[in-house]
Amino acid sequence: MATQASRFIGSIPEHYDRGLGPHLFQDYAGDLARRVAELAPTAVLELAAGTGILSRRLRDALAEDCRLLASDLNPPMLEVARAKFQSGEGVDFRQADAMSLAFGDASFDVVACQFGVMFFPDKQKSYAEAHRVLRDQGSYLFSVWDSWAANPFAQITHEALKSFFPGNPPGFYRVPFEYCDVEEIRGQLLQAGFAEVTTHTLPLRSPIRSARTFARGLVFGNPCLEEITTRGGEPGRVCAAVEKAIREQLGAEMPLQALVVHARKE
Ligand SMILES: C[S@@+](CC[C@H](N)C(=O)[O-])C[C@H]1O[C@@H](n2cnc3c(N)ncnc32)[C@H](O)[C@@H]1O
Repeated sequence: MATQASRFIGSIPEHYDRGLGPHLFQDYAGDLARRVAELAPTAVLELAAGTGILSRRLRDALAEDCRLLASDLNPPMLEVARAKFQSGEGVDFRQADAMSLAFGDASFDVVACQFGVMFFPDKQKSYAEAHRVLRDQGSYLFSVWDSWAANPFAQITHEALKSFFPGNPPGFYRVPFEYCDVEEIRGQLLQAGFAEVTTHTLPLRSPIRSARTFARGLVFGNPCLEEITTRGGEPGRVCAAVEKAIREQLGAEMPLQALVVHARKE
C-alpha cells in the first residue's frame, strides 16, 4: 500500500542515496549488517531495502553461499540498489509490500529492515508477514528512528519547511520519528507471534561532510518534495533555507539515535 509518505519515486532515489545515505544511513547499515551476519543465516530477506545501502553491507558481511533477497515497495529505489552489485554476487531484487509478502511460509532465517517499518501503515500486518516467512528460530532484525529530540536534524528541517507553509506545513518529517515507543513495538511483535524481543538504543555522531549535499537529500531525496510542490513551493528555495538552518544549528557534526530491534521466532 502506497501512502504519500512512502512514495520514494521519480528523482527521489538518486538524491536519497547521495544526500541522505552518507549522513544518515551508512553507519547504521554497517551495524545492522554485522548483527545479521553474526546469526550465520543461509537465506536473508531484506524489506524496504531502498537504494541498497544495507543490502551492500549485508552482501559484504554474509557468507558467500547465503542467499540475499532485497525487496522494496518502490521499484525506482531498487534500480539504484541494483547498480551497486555485480552479476553473480548472489543478490535478487523484488518489488514487495512489507504488509503482503509473496514469499512462502518459513522461507528465510533472517528478515532485516533498516528504517522502513515507520512507513508501513499497518505495522501489525507487516510483523505477521515477517513472522510467517521466517523459519522456526528465525530472527527479524530492524531499526527505527528515535524521536525528534534525539535526531535534531529532523525537527530543524521540519521548522525550515514550516516557515514556507505556516498554516499547512508538510508532515513528512513527523512520520519516521513517531514510532519509537519500545513497549508499543514489543507488544505488537509479541502479538504477531514472536517469542522474544530485545531492543537497543544506538546513538551515534555523524559528520556533516557537506551541508549542501545533506540539504539536497533532505528536500529532494524523500516524499516531502511532493508536499512542497503540491503546495506551490519552490524546492530550490526551501533547500537553501534547510541548508542555512543545518549550517547554523548543527555545524560540522550531528547526533543521531536509532532503536535496533531483534525479534525471535520460537
Ligand atoms: C527511509 S527509506 C529506507 C531505505 C533503506 N532501508 C535504507 O536504509 O537506506 C524507506 C524505504 O521504505 C520503503 N517502503 C515504504 N513503504 C513500504 C512498504 N509498505 N513495503 C516495503 N517498502 C516500503 C520506501 O520505498 C523506502 O525505500
